[in-house]
Amino acid sequence: MRRFAVRTYGCQMNQHDTEKVSNLLHHGGWRPAAREDEADLLVVNTCSIREKAEHRLYSDLGALRAWKAAAPGRLVGVGGCVAQQEGDEILRRFPQVDFVFGTHNLRRVPALVAGAEAGRRRAALAEVRDPARFDLPERHPAYAGATPGRAWVTVMEGCDMFCSFCIVPTTRGREISRSADAIEAEARGLAAGGVREITLLGQTVNAYGRHDVRRGRSQVPFAALVRRLATIPGLARIRYTSPHPIFFDADLVRAHRELENLCPHVHLPLQSGSDRILEQMRRRHTRDDFRRLAERLREARPDVALTTDLIVAFPGESDADFRDTLELVREIGFVDAYSFKYSPRPGTRAAELPGCVPAEEAQARLQELQALQRGLTLAAHRARVGQATEILLEGASRRPGQVMGRDPYHRVVNLSPPAGLDPRPGELLPVRLVEATPHSLIAELAVKETHGQADEAKRRRAESVKIASRTGSFSA
Ligand code: 5AD
Ligand code: SF4
Repeated sequence: MRRFAVRTYGCQMNQHDTEKVSNLLHHGGWRPAAREDEADLLVVNTCSIREKAEHRLYSDLGALRAWKAAAPGRLVGVGGCVAQQEGDEILRRFPQVDFVFGTHNLRRVPALVAGAEAGRRRAALAEVRDPARFDLPERHPAYAGATPGRAWVTVMEGCDMFCSFCIVPTTRGREISRSADAIEAEARGLAAGGVREITLLGQTVNAYGRHDVRRGRSQVPFAALVRRLATIPGLARIRYTSPHPIFFDADLVRAHRELENLCPHVHLPLQSGSDRILEQMRRRHTRDDFRRLAERLREARPDVALTTDLIVAFPGESDADFRDTLELVREIGFVDAYSFKYSPRPGTRAAELPGCVPAEEAQARLQELQALQRGLTLAAHRARVGQATEILLEGASRRPGQVMGRDPYHRVVNLSPPAGLDPRPGELLPVRLVEATPHSLIAELAVKETHGQADEAKRRRAESVKIASRTGSFSA
């Protein structure tokens, strides 16, 4: 039995690609190795969103020379965004690499492995504009339960937005949407197999179908797709990531009001709160547009949790621009944010812009922004203490003796299971939140409420609404 291991860097799309490649290898008779030193094949699934991520590949490849030399017949494959960008160059510079596959060529991995076993070193990098590239074998039974109760479902790939800082349109190619029928069939199959939560994936997920609807293909607008999936029996939760603010139409906002199983969490990348910088970034919206969208979402779903992505020290960002970002972040009261220092990506428009922000200044801005966000996150967590919620159990917590799961707002919730109870990953558990920490919430398993407890819970909920409106943060 030949065994494989995969190192995965980057976003959820990349993690899902790793699942797809693993599944293909399963169908080809390969099995996962418990540890890399027991593997015969090691695949590195790379990310190039920022320079640091890209450099991981080069340091990994250095160390993998020794891994490969330690046993005869070992193979190394490189996939993902760096592979797509650098392609043949990787084969040329690194003799320890046996094959390279780009982001559109997952289906070719088994053939590339077979070729490599026969001594052929190749790179498969062609852009595939045919939706047939989404046609992959069903989840192998041995692999189906890897993340019990939840699954990612690809709805579209690629990006046509060309934000000036971003390499993704180059590495992931043009936008292409999968047929709504195929998506629904996959979701139904997952739900029938016990999956309770799906996350719809796409680089600009709510741009789904926009190029196809007018051509009469079997795609529909994103909100209509979500509505179709929401009727599938057994699917308790639907999530999606990442949307672009400009593709939020009225129907998607309404869906958040109407669909009980559409989770009250939207990860909505803001990038900057300065109109001048948003323009330079080519985000195609203003700070006011974003503010209004947040308001519309809150009107539709008052408890919605908003999270975001932010970039500091974009070329030409002045202190005043940065203050605009801080102000908008505070005003919107994001529940969480991923924030990054701008990293120039070769070939992007922003890489040509003047006005590089000095490294120490960039670091100071990042720290100030992260300190602000820590406060907002903790306030949002505190406002929820006392609430009843439900978690989808994922597994052991980082906190010893506890288990962890996520609530509908995508917050990490830790729990000590009562003695004698052995909840399984993939189960939905009713809980009551009892404590807030900076990174997570702590809960107890909910017990049936007596009248007195119900009154107390109501009082605490009313109190948390007051706190939430005072701090400008979410939750009800
Ligand atoms: N530098 C820093 N951050 C970036 N991101 C994308 N490109 C860059 C870059 N060149 C961030 C954006 C995006 C997230 C996935 O990564 O915030 O939303
Ligand atoms: Fe990159 Fe902008 Fe496309 Fe997002 S929308 S993947 S930030 S180019």
